[in-house]
Order: sequence, then C-alpha cells, then structure tokens
Amino acid sequence: MLANLSLRTKLSIYVGAAISAAVALCIALFIFQAATRINSESESARRLANDFIVSALPSINQLDKPEAELERLIKEANHLRHARIYSSRTSVQDDTGNSIESPPNWFTRFLTPNSESREIEVVTKSGFEDKIIIKANPADEITEIWQEIKWISIASLGVIFATVLIISIVVSNTLSPLAGYVQALSLLDAGKRTLTVAGDKTPEFKIIADRINGLSQTLSKLDEENHLLIQKMITLQDNERKEIARDLHDEFGPALFMSRICVGELKKKITISVGEDKYLNDWSAVDQNIDKLQQVNRKILGRLRPAALEEMGLSGAIEAMIKSWRKTDPSVEMVYYFPEEKLTMTEIQSVTAYRIIQESLTNIYRHSRATKVNVRLFLEKLTPSPQLVISVADNGIGIGENSHDGIGLRGMKERMLIVGGELKISRLSPSGTEIKALMPLS
Ligand SMILES: Nc1ncnc2c1ncn2[C@@H]1O[C@H](COP(=O)(O)OP(=O)(O)OP(=O)(O)O)[C@@H](O)[C@H]1O
Ligand SMILES: [Mg+2]
Repeated sequence: MLANLSLRTKLSIYVGAAISAAVALCIALFIFQAATRINSESESARRLANDFIVSALPSINQLDKPEAELERLIKEANHLRHARIYSSRTSVQDDTGNSIESPPNWFTRFLTPNSESREIEVVTKSGFEDKIIIKANPADEITEIWQEIKWISIASLGVIFATVLIISIVVSNTLSPLAGYVQALSLLDAGKRTLTVAGDKTPEFKIIADRINGLSQTLSKLDEENHLLIQKMITLQDNERKEIARDLHDEFGPALFMSRICVGELKKKITISVGEDKYLNDWSAVDQNIDKLQQVNRKILGRLRPAALEEMGLSGAIEAMIKSWRKTDPSVEMVYYFPEEKLTMTEIQSVTAYRIIQESLTNIYRHSRATKVNVRLFLEKLTPSPQLVISVADNGIGIGENSHDGIGLRGMKERMLIVGGELKISRLSPSGTEIKALMPLS
C-alpha cells in the first residue's frame, strides 16, 4: 500500500508511527502505574478513615445527643485525602465533578475498579442509630492524571509534527541532487552523450554522479564506434554492390545478349537446313527465357547500382526508381518534383540522395500502408553553400513512437553525416511520415 508513496511520505509515516507507538506505550504504562497507586492509596485512605471513626465511636456512644459530635467527627475525617465519609442521614455530593475539566467516566472507572464503600454502624446508649459510610474518592488525583495525559498527548503531537517537518526538509534537501541525475539519465536516453553531472558531497550520491559520468563516456565511445562501423558497412555495401553490379553488367549482360543473338542465328540456320519451322516453339521458349533473364538482370542492376545515375543523372535515376515502384504497386499515388536549376553534385552526393529516396520508398512500401507519396527535391540558396533538401512524405500510419531505428534509418543518418548533412524524421498530421534530408552542396 505504501509502495507507491514518495520516500519523504514513507519516512514521515514510519517515524510518526514509531513516535506515536512509543508515546502510547508510555501513556499506557503511566496509567497502569497510576491505577495501582490510586487503588492502594484509596484502600489505605479508607482504612485510615475507618480506624479514625472506630476509635472515636466509644465516646460518642456515651452521649445522649450524639448528632453534633458525629457531624464534627465526619467533618474531621473528611480531611483525609482520597476518602469521602458521610452519614446515611445526610445526602452527599460526590465531588468527582470538579471545576477543572473532569476526566471521562470510562477513565475514572478504569483507574478505580475497586470502589466498594465501608459502612460503620453507630448505635448509642440513648438508642440513636446511624450509619457512617466511607467511600474511596481519588477524583482529584484522577483529574490530575487526566490533565497530565492530555498535556503529554498534545506535546507528543507537537513533537511528531516537528519531526515530520524536519524529515521533509532534510529528505528534500538530501535528495535534491536526484532530480539532476534523473534529468541526466533522460538526456542520455534521448541520445545526448556529452554531459557531466556535478558531484555531490554525500558519498552515496557522489558514486551515482561518477557512474552517470562514466556511463555517458562509455555510451559516447560506443556511439563513436557504432558510427564508424556503420560508415564502414555503408562503404563496404556500396563497394560490394558496385562490384556485383559491374559483374552483372559487364559479364552477365553481354553473355545474355550474345546468347540471344546466337539463338537467333541458330534459328536462321536450322530454318535454312531443315527448311521448316518445326522447332519454332522451342526457339521462342529459349528466346523468351533469355529476354526474361535480361529484364531481371536490368532490374537487379537498377537496385544494386543506380546505373541510371551515370546515364540519366540524379533526376532520371529517381524517376526510373519511382516508375519501377509505380509498376510494383499502382494503387499508391506518387508525386515527384525535381528542381529545374542544374545541380552540381559529387558522385557521393548523388548516390547519397538516391539511396535516401530508395530506402525511404522501400520503408513506405514495407511499413506505412500509405496511399499517397510525395517525393520532392529543392534547392535552398544558403550561404556559404546551397543546400539540397530531399523530402519523402507519405500519408501512412506514421513511424511508431517506440519504433527503433533499423539499419535503413541508421544508414540514412550515417550517409547524411558522411556528406556533412542532417536527416530529420517527423510524424505528419493527421498521419504519415516525412523523411527530410538536408545536404549541403559545396
Ligand atoms: N514511412 C514509414 N511509415 C511507418 N513506419 C516507418 C516508416 N519508415 C520507417 N518506419 C518504421 O521505422 C522502423 C525502422 O525503419 P528502418 O528502415 O530503420 O528498418 P526496417 O525497414 O525495419 O529494416 P531495414 O534495416 O531492412 O531497413 C521500421 O521498422 C518501421 O517500423
Ligand atoms: Mg528500412
């Protein structure tokens, strides 16, 4: 139940409860002791009163009119503490109702469970009869105890309140560095690595601050290594793609082309020598298969190395890519805009722009369920160098809040870092995603 409470509240509750329990125990002991004391005092007061009256009775018994003497005796006996003495002929007022605030009945009853009264018969020679009643009456003592308990309780409440207040202040002050540590960890989680948490004098917090600083350095190193690894991977991937594309283009392509020509020649020869078209179907099948292989080869080449980049430039290559996606899924409406002014770009810049659009479109088709895609490239004339903005936006489900970057997005970011640019990924309203790459063209 207390698990969800703050440390300050928990400490206040525990300490407050401990002090209250200690005070309650002290009060209980105090009451038990007082009860024992009051009972023995009352008993001895009753005995004393009894002895006092019994010793005076023989002389009263001799009197013809003993009323006045009896009254005087009762009055004198009433000077004894904790006893109330009265004659059965007089009505007597219990003086438990005091002028000071009187204790509740349960309290009085608890302290004086034994409140039996003693009676002494008086019979004089002249035939006068009366009864003297002796009752325990520790009312003033009980009232005093009640008042003491009241003051102890009020003082204890004051102590509990002051303690809780002090705990709150001390805990708040002591734990104040925690807010800084939480903020530092949130920043680390958000990807900010170059942070230093100021140490605290408290040894426990100094350790935490040192660990956070250590964590920040380790993460920063890991980021750096990651960065280099991904850059290496991209370069290797590009080189590998280039090599495979070259082999496909230079070896596989001509071989297929030659095969097709040879098959054509063979057809002519067979037709001449056999003089009929009876192998025409077989020839067509082989020719069609070689044609299919050529098409597949071109498709793979297009994916591996944007050959079109060399042949048609960035604009044509992107257009070819978009055409290919339109063919793959005609239900997705694609809008494409390329700047009219001539772009002066290095090979790596062109490949980067091409790959960014290629990965963005692949992601859209794989993850977004979009029906509209907008690919726009435009030039921003910034100083000192203009900047090419590549924006690929879709109206799909949008990148999930908790989705993690795969190789695709990380590769895009790394590619942009290599060319000194920046990649921005944002969710669009009401839905969709925009990948925006800002690439300086120097
Ligand atoms: N246009 C988009 N719409 C919705 N979600 C997207 C979009 N682009 C990316 N995502 C989400 O971002 C995640 C990361 O994308 P990323 O390209 O890095 O990895 P991937 O496509 O899953 O795998 P790969 O490493 O093969 O590219 C995806 O898994 C997907 O959940
Ligand atoms: Mg991807």
